[in-house]
Amino acid sequence: MISFPGYDDIIKKVYEEKQEHVFRFWDAIDDNKKKSLLEDLKNVNFEEINRQYLNASTEPVIDEDYGPADYIRLPRNPEESAKFAQARETGVEAIKKGRVCAFIVAGGQGSRLGYDGPKGAFPFTPIKHKSLFQVFSEKILKSSKIYGVSIPLLIMTSHANHQQTKEHFEQNKYFGLDPENVFMFQQDMIPSLTTSGKLILASQNSLFRNPNGHGGSLIALKKSGMLQKLKEKGIDLISYFQVDNPIVCAIDPVFIGFHILNNAEISSKALTKAYPQEKVGNFVIFPGKKLGIVEYSDLPEDKAYEKESDGSLHYSAGNVAIHIFSVDFISKITSDDFSLPYHLAEKKILAYNNGEPEKIDGYKFEKFVFDALPLTDKNVILETSRRNEFAPVKNKTGLDSVDSSRQLMMDMHREWLEKRGIEIPDSVAIIEISPLKALRAEDLDKDIIIPDQSEVYLD
Ligand code: UD1
Repeated sequence: MISFPGYDDIIKKVYEEKQEHVFRFWDAIDDNKKKSLLEDLKNVNFEEINRQYLNASTEPVIDEDYGPADYIRLPRNPEESAKFAQARETGVEAIKKGRVCAFIVAGGQGSRLGYDGPKGAFPFTPIKHKSLFQVFSEKILKSSKIYGVSIPLLIMTSHANHQQTKEHFEQNKYFGLDPENVFMFQQDMIPSLTTSGKLILASQNSLFRNPNGHGGSLIALKKSGMLQKLKEKGIDLISYFQVDNPIVCAIDPVFIGFHILNNAEISSKALTKAYPQEKVGNFVIFPGKKLGIVEYSDLPEDKAYEKESDGSLHYSAGNVAIHIFSVDFISKITSDDFSLPYHLAEKKILAYNNGEPEKIDGYKFEKFVFDALPLTDKNVILETSRRNEFAPVKNKTGLDSVDSSRQLMMDMHREWLEKRGIEIPDSVAIIEISPLKALRAEDLDKDIIIPDQSEVYLD
């Protein structure tokens, strides 16, 4: 067994756990590197990773004793419209009082996009090539102007992209936001494992870790001191969304209003699924009336295709990953021995095995934020319009890609103009409306003249 002053306990533990292959390069590295490897190992919770591996290697038992969750539909009659109007009023009041902040989860590795940098820095818009972060920042800025209050922006990053995210904001002067009101904090990283349960080296002296999933955001809010800061600022509502949805309504008074009026702990937006196996999570009610989400990959085919008598899908509420969290609720659940379950993903991992990086099959473990839903006593699911709120950027090409998302954004902008009776000349092929100009059709002046040219940018 190797030895190093001050670290013999951890070295002993590594051998006991039969993970001593991580010392493969021991003789080739200097004392500083030895120390950093040992520090890395000191942070490994071996009991936890053994438990995860055990769960990974046994067939998952998914309790299928659940039914579809009910949700508040988009208004279909004047009575429902009046409820939405009341919710809007309540939401507007809360935003104006400074009770709301925005929260982007952006710690994921974004590997599916094949972009070398934080996903949020991806140049997204069709004409001005604004990054996703710029789009969100301008939405916050515009909302702040509309409601006469400076709305804080929280961004969860991870070790993999924190520095680059910070630089992206610094180099762009925070896109007009007050830097004092932008808060970035990191989520935890967790060791990935080989399919035989072994730790993986990322270099001679470090372990391969992955961000612990967006479910890590709740504990990261607490550990970073952010929850406390929010309380001190009088903020009790967090408007949560993902970095991959550029058309999200970042601050939605109607959604916030429904959350408040129902005394909810977590509220979620849902879209009515377009087809049975659409790649979105399904809102369900588990036994004991607990709300939850079953991922599309876990929804059995017979359930996915089940229909109502009117032909609509039995499981129709799809997860768009937009939520309102009450700060008190997060404080409550994170104050005890709080832990959300880990989910397993089999991925290709860049391992440092024989002196150079090599792709191997491995297991990454992630927590999902919606696993907090069953912990709620009160919650709201609100239907949103797909065309106005869901244009995910997940893949490099094809379905849910940069191109499809851009197209959806342009279609939405075109619809806003049409809704306002603004004429669009036939020559116009590409339209981009700055969030600083409008967050919805109603923000556009009816007398706007659209120039007769192929690209039109409105700001
Ligand atoms: C997710 C949801 C799915 C929903 C869909 C809507 C899961 C498991 N599924 O799918 O129910 O219908 O979005 O688009 O979440 N992230 C972190 N840290 C991490 C991992 C992810 O901040 O450690 C962030 C990413 O940066 C991204 C978001 O979480 O903003 C989504 O993560 P991703 O793993 O891509 O979710 P999806 O599988 O696409």
